[in-house]
Amino acid sequence: MSKLNITVCMGSSCFARGNASNLEFIENYIKENGLEADIDLAGSRCEGKCVTGPNVIINGIEYTEVDEKKLKQTLDELVKVK
Ligand code: FES
Repeated sequence: MSKLNITVCMGSSCFARGNASNLEFIENYIKENGLEADIDLAGSRCEGKCVTGPNVIINGIEYTEVDEKKLKQTLDELVKVK
């Protein structure tokens, strides 16, 4: 698997609208699947796109209105493809 770079917007809007729990979800997902070496997780400041938030960027692709369901689907897909 090529390494995944995940950036979670930690700006106040995205954070309040779901990225607080999305971040927690990703951290648990990494732990549960033993992906510590395969996923780089980082936070970013507001990206100026609050209106489509919460925003998460995975390998340069921007995901908008992210919730746990969408995250799980996306990560399952990417981790499988690795
Ligand atoms: S807070 Fe995430 S884009 Fe503004």
